[in-house]
Amino acid sequence: MPETRTAVVTGASKGIGLAIAAALREAGYQVVAGARTISAELTEVTSLAVPVDLGTAEGVDRLIEAALTELGGIDLLVNNVAGMSGPHVGGFLSVTDDQWRHTLELTLMSAIRASRAALPSILERRGHIINIGSVNARIPASPLVDYSAAKAALANLGKALAEEFGPRGIRVNTISPGPVRTAVWTEAGSTGDALATMAGVSRQEFLEALPAAFTMSTGRITEPAEIAALVVFLASGAASNINGSDLVIDGGTRNEV
Ligand SMILES: NC(=O)c1ccc[n+]([C@@H]2O[C@H](COP(=O)([O-])OP(=O)(O)OC[C@H]3O[C@@H](n4cnc5c(N)ncnc54)[C@H](OP(=O)(O)O)[C@@H]3O)[C@@H](O)[C@H]2O)c1
Repeated sequence: MPETRTAVVTGASKGIGLAIAAALREAGYQVVAGARTISAELTEVTSLAVPVDLGTAEGVDRLIEAALTELGGIDLLVNNVAGMSGPHVGGFLSVTDDQWRHTLELTLMSAIRASRAALPSILERRGHIINIGSVNARIPASPLVDYSAAKAALANLGKALAEEFGPRGIRVNTISPGPVRTAVWTEAGSTGDALATMAGVSRQEFLEALPAAFTMSTGRITEPAEIAALVVFLASGAASNINGSDLVIDGGTRNEV
């Protein structure tokens, strides 16, 4: 294994991806990150930030190729980027083919394409793939029907890759968060904003009610740094018999939500 390990993080200009990139840098990784916009914060924590649309095959290939050619290989791939075309007020019957395609391309196909392109190097370096899933994989929500199905497929893919490639010395794991404090919930025009409107309350009221609505026994939503800490722990190999796992971090949400 080379002295300095290289990690690729998809969708890393803000939110959970940025927190993961920063934590991996702190843990000693060279970080290669991709997003459409390269934020100043991202440039600060990465060795290479690649402006790409990860909803396209070309964008994903360009990101992985940049890591392989400019940093010599990949030890860790974090498939973090996802897409959401909703929330769909009209539920399943209102979701168009284009909306399904958008969600599936960014949430599932990006991870498939990135894993396929990175695997030869990850196998050579006995590395690790970590997929950022969602509790919606197991607790689907009708306004997020496309996203929930895509996340379920992503978790399934993680298990399949762990079974196929585990015997060849690499690990593949999924982290499934419940609500995490990012722009997805906190920004004007966000999913959180739309869900708040659907519920007839303000975004702030909606955010405050989230822990109770999700029956979180901790009484709070998760911070991006907590997802990043879990990525660093998994990647550290301190518990390297964790493979094909789906680790939930959701404040103790009960399944019947
Ligand atoms: N926040 C939550 O409550 C929560 C809960 C469960 C799971 N998750 C999962 O955690 C992951 C990150 O979510 P987040 O809340 O951190 O999201 P976020 O704050 O909206 O950040 C999304 C990131 O993805 C990038 N991105 C979006 N579309 C892209 C595209 N077409 N090409 C390249 N990059 C793109 C964005 O950068 P650009 O816009 O610059 O491209 C940004 O860096 C996702 O997989 C999400 O499903 C989140």
